Amino acid sequence: MTYKIISSDRIADSVVRMVISAPEAARNAHAGQFVVVMADEKGERIPLTMADFDKDKGTLTIIFQEVGFSTKALGRMRPGDAIYSVLGPLGKPTHTEGSGNCICVGGGVGIAEMWPVARALKDAGRHVTCIAGARTKGLLILEEELKETCDELLIATDDGSYGSKGFVTDILSEKIKAGSYSYIYAIGPVPMMKKVADISRPHKIKTVVSLNPLMVDATGMCGVCRCKVEGKTVFGCVDGPEFDAHQVDFDELAGRLSFFTDKENQYG
Ligand code: NAD
Ligand code: FES
Repeated sequence: MTYKIISSDRIADSVVRMVISAPEAARNAHAGQFVVVMADEKGERIPLTMADFDKDKGTLTIIFQEVGFSTKALGRMRPGDAIYSVLGPLGKPTHTEGSGNCICVGGGVGIAEMWPVARALKDAGRHVTCIAGARTKGLLILEEELKETCDELLIATDDGSYGSKGFVTDILSEKIKAGSYSYIYAIGPVPMMKKVADISRPHKIKTVVSLNPLMVDATGMCGVCRCKVEGKTVFGCVDGPEFDAHQVDFDELAGRLSFFTDKENQYG
């Protein structure tokens, strides 16, 4: 099986959108799931959310930030090149059942992973407000796609270069005070997801986060992706990646994510 790259575009500084031919994964894909990509035979296994998929064309869209050796190598591959392996879809699909208004919060590259969830919630008939945030205007991705997908799009940049100045969580607090919401979905850096949970908890709004623990096999065998939810150990790859935000131990997740930072800095 070869996984040919159909297109590859830079959509922000260091952020690449790649469309790959992967018919089996595309045919079985649901919002919220991910694939594990290996650029070449000796490459690292990179877990990436499927930002989009076309079941008829048999293609998947992945969006990734070039942060280390492996994502930079993937980013250098060109249309026509073949990726060695695309394993998936993995993880549990997003739950869209329920009623009432929803807010989807996406920070940085997490916006790419919020987009399919916002689409799935819209397809399920929900009213969807999206809050998208980036450090600065040049790092904001998928604005047009989100405008087409959701009922309302609100943007924040840390430096105020676009949208309102501040974090996505500042906008979230204001929306919750002013409106009535039954569901919040958040994806992005761990401190952002923790803050979202802290904001929504007193309002008792169901809040789901998509976690990004380190992964190796991504099939429930190695235990590298373990997280603590409701005081119990769960595996991000098979039990998640989505969990009840009010029950996640974010401090433990942050600690585990920083485990190899010195090695990444050394070899990345
Ligand atoms: P970033 O650091 O540029 O932050 C993006 C936005 O998140 C900010 O603009 C802000 O609105 C919000 N944010 C950041 N810190 C916050 C805080 N302390 N409180 C409230 N809001 C905050 O994001 P990035 O560089 O795109 O990603 C950084 C990290 O996020 C990476 O380590 C990456 O692994 C992780 N990430 C996680 C997921 C996931 O699956 N949960 C997805 C993508 C990225
Ligand atoms: Fe190995 Fe989840 S990545 S068990």
